[in-house]
Amino acid sequence: MSSDYSTLLLGAGFTALVLVYLSQQGKRKSPAPLPPGPKGLPLLGNVADLPQTQPWVTFAEFGRKYGGITYLTALGKHIIVLNDPKYATEMLDKKSRIYSDRPTLVMAGQLVGWDKGPALIPFSQQWSEYRRLFAQLMGTRSKIDDFNDLFHEETHTFLRNLLETPNSWLDHCRRYAGALVLRVAFGYKVKVKEDPLVKLVDEAMDNFSETTASNAFMVDVFPSLQYVPAWFPGAEWKRKATKYHKTLAEMLEVPFAWVKQQMVAGTADSCFVSKQLENKSMTPEEELTIKWTAGGIYSGGADTTVAHMECFFMAMALHVDAQQKAQAEMESVLGVGVLPTLADRGRLPYFEAMFTEVYRCYTLGPTGLPHVCTQDDVHDGYFIPKGSIIFTNVWQFLRDPKTYSDPDKFSPERFMESPSHEKEKDPKNYVFGFGRRACPGMHFADASLWILLASLVAGFDIRPPVKDGQTVLPSGKFADGSISHPEHFDCVITPRQGTLQSIIRS
Ligand code: HEM
Repeated sequence: MSSDYSTLLLGAGFTALVLVYLSQQGKRKSPAPLPPGPKGLPLLGNVADLPQTQPWVTFAEFGRKYGGITYLTALGKHIIVLNDPKYATEMLDKKSRIYSDRPTLVMAGQLVGWDKGPALIPFSQQWSEYRRLFAQLMGTRSKIDDFNDLFHEETHTFLRNLLETPNSWLDHCRRYAGALVLRVAFGYKVKVKEDPLVKLVDEAMDNFSETTASNAFMVDVFPSLQYVPAWFPGAEWKRKATKYHKTLAEMLEVPFAWVKQQMVAGTADSCFVSKQLENKSMTPEEELTIKWTAGGIYSGGADTTVAHMECFFMAMALHVDAQQKAQAEMESVLGVGVLPTLADRGRLPYFEAMFTEVYRCYTLGPTGLPHVCTQDDVHDGYFIPKGSIIFTNVWQFLRDPKTYSDPDKFSPERFMESPSHEKEKDPKNYVFGFGRRACPGMHFADASLWILLASLVAGFDIRPPVKDGQTVLPSGKFADGSISHPEHFDCVITPRQGTLQSIIRS
């Protein structure tokens, strides 16, 4: 049986390769040359050149060899890697009408089921509907003001938790991110410890990040592998897909059903879902749109926020001098032991610059999410075939010496204006993505992170631990995944003078 199956698969694979080859032979002449790139093998193309881990490093090497735009092909798929931000701006921002589709991801999309949600759904009417709902809720800075009380309240819970158990700082970060998005989407108040919904969201998002990491699953390279049965030797990934699909279904259904129950009982807090359902009878399709948009709020917002908080803790452990400068600024502007509020944002220029430098130096989305081009295009004299998958190497954009002076140095000062120095480009232009697919939660993320991290710096000292007389610094390395977390590190967190009083007062 198994050998029959392998033969069938090999046969299907071979036939697919021949079809790809024949279709390539019959192609019309390109209107311009393809961008430069590594020479591929016949039929397979550059399959062997595509990195399975830390793709941003290999992509940057392509950039050094071939310039800001590189072309690769894998089994007939066209792949474009952008290492120069000017291409991302010119193509994905300015020509967003044709550069806003997503690739078909077999593992994350078709098998696990994320292809119906806002982040992976094709550029379509249904996608516009999701974006309309996001824009209504959090599309502008002024709409974010509606969430200020929530941000402050949850920040103070975070600080109290940190004061009590500083070594569990990562759990407190997860709780903060989960609490915000679950309140906004479902009016759900997170329990202090081990909340089951936070756990569910975290699990679903770990799965999302793992399955959308570029080139992580062979089934995305060889789609015919999806027909391998789960019992097939070596088909561990197929069993994973089934398990992850179940987690995703729970992530969509469980909190939604909870809001409905609360509404029936008359105890629902006002939130995105309750406002949508209020006094309306909905078709199952309309309900599904609401479930997925709510799902997009917490799936888009939870793990990204946690990863950024980890980056910030890491930056503080690595750059104690900058941390102390920000603390001195806070003490002189706000007073000793006074916690900042969002209203203070314009009064803390050094902290703002340090906050911005963390976005630049330690990015959680080093290769963003890929876009797909829906029409043939000729850009900068290069042919971009319809269907090309476009990767933006944001990690490299943020290290481009044409944009950032001395890019390997952690230097908040680069974002401070002085008569002799112009502010360098805001990394938020890159880290939240491009064009019509740019992150709809960017204002929400930025404000919720600012208040939490400013309060953290005001209230606590963060230091690398000392073991056997040696300071143990974080490695500064990042794990694989489309949402990339720093490798595990320890830090020592101690309250600053007046912290206890200011937290009790808050
Ligand atoms: C530091 C925090 C965050 C970062 C760095 C981030 C970054 C990104 C990036 C790079 C993309 C892909 C953009 C593109 O394709 O060009 C994206 C998409 C998305 N983000 Fe965020 N994000 C963050 C927080 C959030 C939050 C808080 C929410 C919701 C509350 C959210 C919801 C989404 C959604 C729904 C999409 C899919 C948009 C689409 O495909 O049309 N994100 N984000």
